[in-house]
Amino acid sequence: MKTIVTKDPEIAARYVRRGGIVAFPTETVYGLGANAFDAEAIGKIFVAKQRPDDNPLIAHVATLEQIGDLAAEITENAAVFIERFFPGPLTIVIKKSPAVPDIATAGLDSIGVRMPGSELAHRFIEACGTPVVAPSANLSGRPSPTTFEAVFEDLDGRIDCILKGEPTQIGLESTVVDCTEADPVLLRAGAVSLAELQAVVPETRTVDRIVGNIARSPGMRHRHYSPRARVIISGDAAPDPKSSAYIGLTPPESGYSLCRRCSDLADYARSLFEFFRECDRRGIENIVCEPVAEDGIGSALMDRLRRASEL
Ligand code: TXA
Ligand code: MG
Repeated sequence: MKTIVTKDPEIAARYVRRGGIVAFPTETVYGLGANAFDAEAIGKIFVAKQRPDDNPLIAHVATLEQIGDLAAEITENAAVFIERFFPGPLTIVIKKSPAVPDIATAGLDSIGVRMPGSELAHRFIEACGTPVVAPSANLSGRPSPTTFEAVFEDLDGRIDCILKGEPTQIGLESTVVDCTEADPVLLRAGAVSLAELQAVVPETRTVDRIVGNIARSPGMRHRHYSPRARVIISGDAAPDPKSSAYIGLTPPESGYSLCRRCSDLADYARSLFEFFRECDRRGIENIVCEPVAEDGIGSALMDRLRRASEL
């Protein structure tokens, strides 16, 4: 397949309207989108990404009306989160409408919904004229793409079109919060923090405090965010700096073959996945990542570092 690259959201949207699959930038990471009501098109996403079919997709909307088209029910808590955080880096899980094909949600009766804050994503989804289901636009298991180049590296020749934009602003995937039950449950940390969710719905809890709930966010079962190199979370020097890289906030020990000193937490979060990819391109063996305090985007950053460091 020939993959078309365009900067025009209207041209990219044409491929979605014709049943194709299109990578597009959001403020978090690039997504790989298809018409949320077209089962055949959605199937192509799983093939292109080599994604396990038990991992549900997030539906992206441009308008509140489109949320109504996807949902069977919008709970009070969901409505509060929509009011406060949409558009933005938050995904709410709500009961799905029967109109959404099962393949989109891996057979679940719920669906993740998000309204991206980025202008280009908004114009693209609007031009598609339908909600767009999209996982991150990487090959399954690889770090999520935060640049056009990363999408191209993983998916050129496997998808219809790439909508080319700037590197993504946040660089880590959205916060996911399940709103299908009485109290909201945080399933994945992201730029919207637990404290911010609790500021509007104090009952919001984290998933690990609830016993027996591991399968609640199916994506969490799979290995994620991993470079080929070994990820070491540590403030100490690597065993062999020459074959190692460093990313963090404080100046590194000398001798690393690749270093990224970030100016602040937001810069660290924004840079992490592209740094992982750069390390792989250069055949780095170990990546030393400095740990950070777990508040704000720091929680999401530590979550991704831990996942990437699991073998
Ligand atoms: O920032 C983001 O969320 C990006 C951009 C493209 O929007 N998307 C993204 O999608 O990260 P993906 O597929 O890589 O991650 C979606 C996560 C997975 O962990 C999945 O299991 C969870 O959301 N999820 C989706 N639908 C769900 C549902 N109905 N119930 C529970 N978890 C769900
Ligand atoms: Mg992903």
